[in-house]
Amino acid sequence: MSVSQSGSTTYTGAQEGANAARGLWSSRLAFILAATGSAVGLGNIWKFPYITGEHGGGAFVLVYLLCIAVVGIPIMMGEVLIGRRGGRSPVNSIRLIAERDKLNPMWRMIGAVGVLAGFLILSFYSVIGGWAASYVGTAASGQLVGQSADAIGAIFSGLLSDPLTLLMWHTVFMALVMVVVARGVRSGLERAVSILMPGLFVLLLMVVGYAMTTGEFGRAAAFLFQPDFSKLTTSGVLVALGHAFFTLSLGMAVMMAYGSYLPKKVSIAKTSITVSIIDTGVALLAGLAIFPIVFANGLEPGAGPGLIFQTLPLAFGQMPMGSLFGTLFFVLLIFAAWTSGISLLEPIVEWLEEQKGMNRTVSTLGAGLVCWALGIASILSLNLWSDFTPLGAFAMFEGKTIFDLLDFFTANILLPLGGLMVAVFVGWVMSSQAVKNELSLSEPMFRLWYTTVRYFTPVAVAAVFIYNLL
Ligand code: PHE
Repeated sequence: MSVSQSGSTTYTGAQEGANAARGLWSSRLAFILAATGSAVGLGNIWKFPYITGEHGGGAFVLVYLLCIAVVGIPIMMGEVLIGRRGGRSPVNSIRLIAERDKLNPMWRMIGAVGVLAGFLILSFYSVIGGWAASYVGTAASGQLVGQSADAIGAIFSGLLSDPLTLLMWHTVFMALVMVVVARGVRSGLERAVSILMPGLFVLLLMVVGYAMTTGEFGRAAAFLFQPDFSKLTTSGVLVALGHAFFTLSLGMAVMMAYGSYLPKKVSIAKTSITVSIIDTGVALLAGLAIFPIVFANGLEPGAGPGLIFQTLPLAFGQMPMGSLFGTLFFVLLIFAAWTSGISLLEPIVEWLEEQKGMNRTVSTLGAGLVCWALGIASILSLNLWSDFTPLGAFAMFEGKTIFDLLDFFTANILLPLGGLMVAVFVGWVMSSQAVKNELSLSEPMFRLWYTTVRYFTPVAVAAVFIYNLL
């Protein structure tokens, strides 16, 4: 492919308003692959099933799907259009647009929120990526074969209670992310994603097939798709909204950064919708793979963050050639998490390079090490600090460990806040002519989108916030 972020930049075409030395994505497909690489990750396979289980299933899934459609997709389009119009890194794209249209330069803060969110998310994301890494060995060594649900549960609690093993895998995961970011993200990423993502999809389909024939598929489908609104709480709505941002990688300028490489003739709406559909499809497949196993084995849908690590290994332990498929699955899960992890670190490194003039290797090392160190707090909250709930005095944060708080604060507060700012920026601040030109939609479609980002999205995000804080 012909794009690189910094360092070795390849020039492939002129872009209005862009730094002439920047390359563009080789095609629409290249952008879709990179954006999907960021979007599809632990959020889809680890987080979506367990929060769905915790919030009662169907009604939560419906709210989540609504949030993707009416908040997520419009904001993704907004981020991509800011990036393409500015043609630089997020902070500088916004600065450039602000200068050109004589707007308040403080809008750069959108990029700053992204940098902070990236730091905090990556710190715990890497710990979970480490869980997946440790399961590669568990599956490959045949330890899962024929095990009971209890034995599988014991393997998982054994891992959580061992800070040194967790630290080791967290270190491995962070190192993988840092190596790619230090060398410049673009080269290689596109090719890796184009092979690994379809692979993950196929394996997920296989587990779904297995779950269909051996698990309680009907009950699982009903759990996921028959809404029971009596189970929906206001905090469930906030979690669904937050997850729409998390899973689509929105609110922290990732899509803005990737959008800056998108050729002018490509439709922003079509590409954003494609990425969102793939991302949602993977999440729903993960749900259909996991819940039949949960119900067939009498497991608890609301078991929390350990859900996939207690259910999928059970399936792999029972299916023919399960050790092979299990190993492959966790390897692919690491890759999915890896491409997302890279997109979490990249904005920070880019920001350090541009704002502080640091070189790429030094900024990757610095930012990566801080993230790594912060991750230790998440590791300890799984064992030695599992009773430490720093904000437990507030009803909203009752029982939340540092790990839970980081997850809550980033997904449910920082990302929606970043997304809100994007919606206000494209809907109210940027010139509507510029926005219209960038999207080049038909008049009715443009009206629909514009009304959504101007009114609906900000009101929806604000309303969910206010309800939850009151
Ligand atoms: N979307 C990623 C996932 O679902 C996580 C992520 C969030 C990545 C925000 C980048 C930015 O796993």
